[in-house]
Amino acid sequence: MYASNKAVTDDTDRTEFRKTEKKYKLYYDQNSKRKKQPKQVDLSEVLDFKSFLDSYHQNGELPPEIVVVDCRFDRPVFGLESRPGFYFIPGALSVDEQCRWIRDSLMSFPQPPNRTNHNAIYGPISDLFAAVKERKVLVEDENMPAGLDSGSNGCVGNEDTCRWSFCEEDSVLSRGRSCKSVSASVLLRKLRWSTLGLQFDWSKRNYNVSLPHNKIPDELCQLAKKLAAPAMPMGEEFQPEAAIVNYFASGDTLGGHLDDMEADWSKPIVSMSLGCKAIFLLGGKSREDPPLAMFLRSGDVVLMAGEARECFHGVPRIFTDKENAETTTLELHFCDENDILEYIRTSRINVNIRQVF
Ligand code: OGA
Ligand code: MN
Repeated sequence: MYASNKAVTDDTDRTEFRKTEKKYKLYYDQNSKRKKQPKQVDLSEVLDFKSFLDSYHQNGELPPEIVVVDCRFDRPVFGLESRPGFYFIPGALSVDEQCRWIRDSLMSFPQPPNRTNHNAIYGPISDLFAAVKERKVLVEDENMPAGLDSGSNGCVGNEDTCRWSFCEEDSVLSRGRSCKSVSASVLLRKLRWSTLGLQFDWSKRNYNVSLPHNKIPDELCQLAKKLAAPAMPMGEEFQPEAAIVNYFASGDTLGGHLDDMEADWSKPIVSMSLGCKAIFLLGGKSREDPPLAMFLRSGDVVLMAGEARECFHGVPRIFTDKENAETTTLELHFCDENDILEYIRTSRINVNIRQVF
């Protein structure tokens, strides 16, 4: 009796957004005898802007809900009839551009003073990607007093920070079991976000302007301004001040949310997809509105401005299997860079750029 009551509550508690997230999320088949098999999911309702672009190029035709945005951009920009302020630019980034931003996302964006999800545990970590290449291990120095001087070297987080440094694997083995350590490759796998420009504080969900930071790299700023133009038909200025870089591994999701910590919602969020294909959900202003699902491929750019800024959105799924990930072209470009190749085969990176004030 109690159990069945609970089941009823669970079902009615679940919002439309949550139901759709669950539909597309990665689950494994329980009774498969072979190694873990992802459960099959029906993708027939997922909007595919790549195929819309193909059909638009071939005969000018588009599904009823899809519109072409009238703007002077160098390739077609699509919108959705029901979601003003939402823009989709399929293949906005060339393969060379994608490779460049993948490289920067791994090598330069996680560099201090930019913060990452690892800061809270290890303090600032420099040269993580170089350490992966050199097969290094991050090791805790037990002799260093914890918490001393943690403000002046850019270290913020718990008191045990700044005691960690990269060492050769052999030197760690010889120290014996007592020392705490974690390999650089594990840290890269567990990298979940980094923040550029004004630093976003995830615990308070706002921008902490007192944290040390560098300006957004100039080339990223210029690119974001160019990409933002279709969302600003009156020719207003978009001033990129912050970016959040999300790193997704197989099974990682980004739950339904709003980005509401920026002052001017008429300004777009410019969101670039890199690496494995994903499913993006664009809901309405309530979690009860059934969301639209669409594929995001490497090189696609999405803009959310105006009313679309009030729409719940999230990423319930990334595809890491060969057939669905669609990373072959990237893999060819990274064939001489084994560590990037390994990473990008099974990962997605999202760089989203914002004007804060
Ligand atoms: C975000 C976001 C979407 C994506 O970081 O706020 O919505 O495509 N990202 O990963
Ligand atoms: Mn968002």
